[in-house]
Amino acid sequence: MTAIPKIAPELAAHIVDPVVYGNWRALLDTFATLRRDSPVAVAEIPGYRPFWVITRHADILKISKDNATFLNNPATVVVAPLMAEMFVAHLMKGSPHLVKSLVQMDAPEHPKYRRLTQDWFMPANLKTIESNIRAIAKSAIDKMLSMDGTCDFARDVAAMYPLHVVMELLGVPESDEPLMLKLTQELFGGQDPDLNRMRAANISPQEATELMAQTVADFNAYFEALAQDRRANPRNDLATIIATGTIDGMPIPDYESAGYYTIVATAGHDTTSASTAGAMWALAQDPAQFAKVKADRSLLPGLIEEAIRWTTPVQHFMRTVGADTEVSGVPMKAGDWLMLCYVSGNYDESVFPDPERFDAGRSPNRHISFGSGAHQCLGLHLARLEMKILFEELLDRVDSVELAGEPKRSQSTFVGGPKTLPLRFVAA
Ligand code: HEM
Repeated sequence: MTAIPKIAPELAAHIVDPVVYGNWRALLDTFATLRRDSPVAVAEIPGYRPFWVITRHADILKISKDNATFLNNPATVVVAPLMAEMFVAHLMKGSPHLVKSLVQMDAPEHPKYRRLTQDWFMPANLKTIESNIRAIAKSAIDKMLSMDGTCDFARDVAAMYPLHVVMELLGVPESDEPLMLKLTQELFGGQDPDLNRMRAANISPQEATELMAQTVADFNAYFEALAQDRRANPRNDLATIIATGTIDGMPIPDYESAGYYTIVATAGHDTTSASTAGAMWALAQDPAQFAKVKADRSLLPGLIEEAIRWTTPVQHFMRTVGADTEVSGVPMKAGDWLMLCYVSGNYDESVFPDPERFDAGRSPNRHISFGSGAHQCLGLHLARLEMKILFEELLDRVDSVELAGEPKRSQSTFVGGPKTLPLRFVAA
């Protein structure tokens, strides 16, 4: 029998340590070591169920595309300590999930739910809302330009713009946007002392889960009211598609429709905020690159793709092995839990030459920031479109940018990116 490859305890600890994700340098070094020495190996971390850690690009892709063997539903899709897993199971009467959305579903349920909104998220339909997005982008740049040549781009521009877009799409009134921002940051940045509900460092897994459950309850209450409104007063919007959608001829139950809204609302802004701020971080470090893209807008799509790779806003997702299998010759058993480390895949030197370099001209750029297979990001065309429109507006109206202080990444193992990006800029 072959021995099970295991990760050295000090490296394994990094994989679940939000502080290491905030440090980034330490995170990239950890992943480089894992890709080289133990690309498919088990992390045994005190307080956690053991899980496989998958760090090479090719293995992450292969697993992501094999949705019959590697499942989303049986266990939590974001890494969590055992206590938190047990607490959720207790709270949810046996289910491992606080929220039930596309991300927590497998076939045959998943494709039925995904089909409801799939067309809405395709480029042909997005064209119909492009002018709304541009108006929101213009006002984001108006706000930036009103700030006298300095701003915190992450907080003042990147955090709010995708939020406005997604809320407009869902028909949430502007007065409720601060609440949505707060709830999303609590859900995704729950480990960061600047972002979690109690603004506290070192909270216990149980406390973190309790806070998360309160956040989910707030989301559910909000979105159940929104769904009721759209059933009574249907409009031509995404919220109505979800509220009035049917699965096997039956209306979507309240819990699932609230989950649908929650995934669109949450997946749709912190992620795009992170890649938007990441793009600006790269440009502020490299004025020549800024000038080049300003002069030649055909470089913009490449810049956006590279920002999405370089930032990797969604840093991991978990899967559960559905039937005995192997990955790169390493045997796995049904029920095993595994982590797809997108950051590592996006910095895999066998696919991306000089991976730490930001290169707007990188071609090909086969990043896996949007995942792959049946769960590949539903909003990827929207995310790219939002970034393209914002940078078109910005490049028209700003002549140069530079860093005005040290940017900081958020301390989160799940969705992460720049949380502060002090910038000095010269308006055109
Ligand atoms: C799923 C990344 C923007 C909606 C995902 C997944 C990733 C991801 C990694 C899981 C893929 C997998 O399991 O294979 C990102 C990144 C974004 C972004 C990096 C921005 C740069 C958006 C936007 C929306 C959105 C703007 C919608 C408004 C979703 C939904 C899913 C998803 C609904 C679940 C799909 C499913 O399970 O079938 N995203 N996303 N995302 N994303 Fe995004």
